[in-house]
Amino acid sequence: MTTLLHIDASARARSISRQIGAEFAQTWRAARPDGRYLYRDVAADPVPFIDQGWTELCDAVLAAGGTDLDRLEELAGTPEQAGAWALVQPLLDELRAADIVLIATPMYNYSIPASLKAWFDQVTFPRMSLAPRRFVVTTARGGAYSPGSPKAAFDYQERFLRDFFAGHYAVTDTVFINAEMANARVDPALAQFRDSHDTSLAVALSAARALAEEYAK
Ligand SMILES: Cc1cc2nc3c(=O)[nH]c(=O)nc-3n(C[C@H](O)[C@H](O)[C@H](O)COP(=O)(O)O)c2cc1C
Repeated sequence: MTTLLHIDASARARSISRQIGAEFAQTWRAARPDGRYLYRDVAADPVPFIDQGWTELCDAVLAAGGTDLDRLEELAGTPEQAGAWALVQPLLDELRAADIVLIATPMYNYSIPASLKAWFDQVTFPRMSLAPRRFVVTTARGGAYSPGSPKAAFDYQERFLRDFFAGHYAVTDTVFINAEMANARVDPALAQFRDSHDTSLAVALSAARALAEEYAK
């Protein structure tokens, strides 16, 4: 059975990244009624930051020569490590169960929200691989960062996630679907960019539907 894991990370209920992610998820689920759908909202239900026990578990993984994720439970030898493992296990189980990982995230301060980073910190161990899972990231940003725009070099959101998935998960074909100029909805000084935002969002929603249909085949 094919499994989609859907992660939301925006603090905003009427969120644009949530809207695009939901478009992907609804399209995929309609095309794959036999599929399994897992959902986690790291903004509404935050994952704690890693603690001392987690770092000890990570050291135990390194000392054992790498990550056999099936051996993590047995490596959690101390009460602190076992405590960390109790928190990690359900998060890691749903991530490893996924064939497609859909992450809907706002841009905060040129990067990702702390809530999403906290989740990555919990589920990521040295030298683990998540290939051949597919990763899809839907984002919304207040400004514009697409290639050629004046602030393109400030996009530490897509760049970070692309490098992070490649470097830690061995996943190199992540698809990003970004809606730009979202601040034009609320900032009168950006009113002339409202059309550009509306177009960007429409293109993103259409891309999410098309990709979901392709990934449902
Ligand atoms: C805490 C915070 C930080 C933000 N930082 C940036 C930023 O660095 N660059 C940017 O273009 N927009 C920034 N924005 C605007 C958001 O990216 C924009 O509101 C976007 O729509 C958020 O996604 P969402 O609609 O899915 O919540 C920020 C918004 C918040 C709340």
